[in-house]
Amino acid sequence: MSEIQNQEALQAAPSVNDDVLLRVEHLCQYFKVNKAVDDVSFDIKKGEVFGLVGESGCGKTTTGRSIIKLYDITDGNIYFRGKRIAAGIRTYREKIKQAREEMKNADPARKEELRQVILQQREEIRAAKRDHFAKENRCVTEIQMIFQDPIASLDPRMTVYEIIAEGLKIRGERDKSIIDEKVFRVLERVGLVREHAGRYPHEFSGGQRQRIGVARAVVMEPEIIIADEPVSALDVSIQAQVINLLNELRNDLGLTILFIAHDLSVVKYFSDRIGVMYYGKMVELATSDELFAHPLHPYTRALLSAIPLPDPNYEKNRVRVKYNPLSDHDYSVDKPSFREVAPGHFVMCNDAEFDKYIREMQQEQ
Ligand SMILES: Nc1ncnc2c1ncn2[C@@H]1O[C@H](COP(=O)(O)OP(=O)(O)OP(=O)(O)O)[C@@H](O)[C@H]1O
Ligand SMILES: [Mg+2]
Repeated sequence: MSEIQNQEALQAAPSVNDDVLLRVEHLCQYFKVNKAVDDVSFDIKKGEVFGLVGESGCGKTTTGRSIIKLYDITDGNIYFRGKRIAAGIRTYREKIKQAREEMKNADPARKEELRQVILQQREEIRAAKRDHFAKENRCVTEIQMIFQDPIASLDPRMTVYEIIAEGLKIRGERDKSIIDEKVFRVLERVGLVREHAGRYPHEFSGGQRQRIGVARAVVMEPEIIIADEPVSALDVSIQAQVINLLNELRNDLGLTILFIAHDLSVVKYFSDRIGVMYYGKMVELATSDELFAHPLHPYTRALLSAIPLPDPNYEKNRVRVKYNPLSDHDYSVDKPSFREVAPGHFVMCNDAEFDKYIREMQQEQ
């Protein structure tokens, strides 16, 4: 397998791709009982909407929360504008452990080599901790998150004004007239009115509450917004309004958006590229058009088969396919990794699947 075919291709890009705003590299977030996010890599270019989809519990929110540093990540790196803002140390620790193990039976020359390996890994750990806990990285306000649950994420004891102004105050803004101006302007920007500022979250509808969440994020003038299923708790008619609002903000403010959703229909028209997650892993990543035209991973195909279309002929023939990892893959010997099957189109697959996907793509051309 050539280097370009595996995940190295994703890693090699920062210097080549100056327009990359956010880079998530081999991100792992392990909790006591499960690996919520396990070796996930992707990057988001400036001005792009990147959709992250997958069923409930696959690790989407955990990925978002890791990016805004609500967790100390287990492993991997997160870069924002080329600067490392978060780093995990698991890999370095494991290398030290392996070196110690090997040292037990090594000859003196090899022992010296291994000692150097350990010193080097210790240096990596120091650097990772330094970047991860750097004061300026702890409060990266240019990354804002709109939370999944608009009710739970808005403090019921705070007025809308206080909720929206909070971030500005934390950032150090003291001038009341500037805060007023920003709060009132952003309220109008998201389709609410000044008079709403004095009210409390429970006095609003679900769609309005989500607008408050959007206002709280947008008022910080972030570079990137992580919108975590911002519409899934809303009625279908309201969903379209909130999506339109995000789309307007993206066009008017040049926002970059990481848009999290659990089904593909919501992200289809809105996202430039889409990453599909399954049980903590990224299983496919491509541009929206490419993913819908040539879905390769069986899980992506299953997700696509679940989308109803307003076309009776299509609906008559639509067959829902289920994804069953145990029968869909044989990973007993030939192990999978995340590989590039066409420029910019990555799939989690093993050697046999890789060859099959390449053949399928060639036949379609
Ligand atoms: N703080 C935590 N401690 C322990 N386990 C957690 C924690 N947060 C999430 N998990 C677990 O990690 C996995 C991924 O959760 P996550 O919330 O990221 O999923 P999700 O893709 O956002 O799902 P949903 O679509 O339901 O929001 C789940 O199994 C969840 O139970
Ligand atoms: Mg979630």
